[in-house]
Amino acid sequence: MIFGAILAGGVGSRMGEDIPKQFLDIEGKPVILYSLEKFLQSPRMDLVFIGVSEPWLDYTRELVQKYLPENAHRVHIVLGGSGRNDTLQNIIAAIDKVRTGDPKDIIVTHDAARPFVKLRMIEENIDAALQCGAVNTVCPAIDTIVMSQDGVTISDIPNKLLMYYGHSPQSFQIDLLKRLYSTLTQEEKDILTDACKICSLRGQEVALVKSEYTNLKITTPGDYLIAKAYVAAGIHLQE
Ligand code: CTP
Repeated sequence: MIFGAILAGGVGSRMGEDIPKQFLDIEGKPVILYSLEKFLQSPRMDLVFIGVSEPWLDYTRELVQKYLPENAHRVHIVLGGSGRNDTLQNIIAAIDKVRTGDPKDIIVTHDAARPFVKLRMIEENIDAALQCGAVNTVCPAIDTIVMSQDGVTISDIPNKLLMYYGHSPQSFQIDLLKRLYSTLTQEEKDILTDACKICSLRGQEVALVKSEYTNLKITTPGDYLIAKAYVAAGIHLQE
């Protein structure tokens, strides 16, 4: 089976709005709906799980009923966790209750704050996860990446041609991800900012799927302005 996992448990502190950014409006529709609709368009997607924090559980259920009543039976809303990875782990636990346990079952994870994911990216994630086990959706870095160990001076400037921005979706064979995660130490779990890191820490190959610069994550008020301009330009309609 193929499962979507939309990570929507964050509070959006860097946006500074009084509601989490995934619920902000863009032209009459909350940000989270843009990616949820794309996930439901995938003919291979069996169910889509959304992880949200406790105060937003009922609200998210109401959104799904309001905007996608015909697809509500394919959407499960679950309680998120204190960090992004905790939300992912909660979703995996919920998926485990409904899946048959096929070792090739796939989870396609996505940031709710990234409204412009394309159907092509989702389909390529599924194909690559079936083949390779783990996938990240990436774009070549535009800016030079500067590394500093102490935040005061540069320790390295990696070759830009080898650098990519890690976007989402990120997809995994569920059993593989669970197996690798169970081998991490608490220290490794504490510093996890990215699910693909679970794989790279244990030497598991992660395939790359091509992202696009429009697949932005809304993080700051400036990103929200760009996202509104993208919708006005019809970027969300591209497949
Ligand atoms: N996320 C999540 N559960 C958390 C934290 C984050 O599902 N406990 C999700 C966010 O909702 C978002 C994605 O992970 O869709 C990327 O995280 P980020 O941009 O850092 O979102 P926030 O944590 O909400 O933002 P901030 O760090 O500014 O508070």
